[in-house]
Amino acid sequence: MASSVLVFDSGVGGLSVLQEIHQYCPPMPIYYLMDREGFPYGIKEDEPLAQRILTLCQEAVAVLKPSLLVIACNTASTLALPLLRQHLTIPIVGVVPAIKVAAELSPNRCIGLLATPATVNRPYINDLINEFANDCTVTRFGSSALVHYAEHWLAQQQPPDALFEHLNGWLSDTPQPSHVVLGCTHFPLLRDFLERLWPHVTWIDSGAAIARRVASLLAPDAHQNGHFELYWTGTSEIESGVLMFLQGIGNVTRAQPLTTQISYTK
Ligand code: DGL
Repeated sequence: MASSVLVFDSGVGGLSVLQEIHQYCPPMPIYYLMDREGFPYGIKEDEPLAQRILTLCQEAVAVLKPSLLVIACNTASTLALPLLRQHLTIPIVGVVPAIKVAAELSPNRCIGLLATPATVNRPYINDLINEFANDCTVTRFGSSALVHYAEHWLAQQQPPDALFEHLNGWLSDTPQPSHVVLGCTHFPLLRDFLERLWPHVTWIDSGAAIARRVASLLAPDAHQNGHFELYWTGTSEIESGVLMFLQGIGNVTRAQPLTTQISYTK
């Protein structure tokens, strides 16, 4: 049977992951689902959020029938991966903040973790740091504002004017991180701004690693006609900026609320 991938996030962040997957597997059809009604995830309570993610992914998988599910959201992955794997039978790839990579590369043994408020405090992150970066100083910054900056940038081309003020205090603290892990999939969408404002920092995300993992699990059929289908929760219209971004990567054959595909209820 032909392979396809469902990429899931609360909003537009997972598009940074979709972009990488498409580069590695161009013929693969990709369904992209944004939980706009549940957005933003990074300030939500764990238990109801985990249940919401499970219900939504179960229903989307039942209807769209992808071969593989990518949880392109650090907040969701660090919370709900074991639960999802317990209930779904298809392979699931989650996002792990690239703390190991940053620790391997940092010359001054100081790395930063920039993620949502929920992700920075997860036990999963403590375990990653203990395992891979215990000889490093790891400074953490939890930001939901940055998630919104990324949404506004992609949807309305509104530049994140407050970015410098928002992060510079943290990035100026000593020791200064040589490498900062972008532990939220929204943040690579702001990479150009980050690189311009803090050129001495190396910004690291997990998009390419996820794409390699997907490519290793699925053998895309070269005869498949790679295209994108965009779905979202809620009934609001999708901003033209989001569609344009996706159309800039490949062929979008469908864009509609998920509720018109399935009877998803909150
Ligand atoms: N893209 C997300 C992440 O990787 C979620 C952001 C949010 O909804 O707060 O964490």
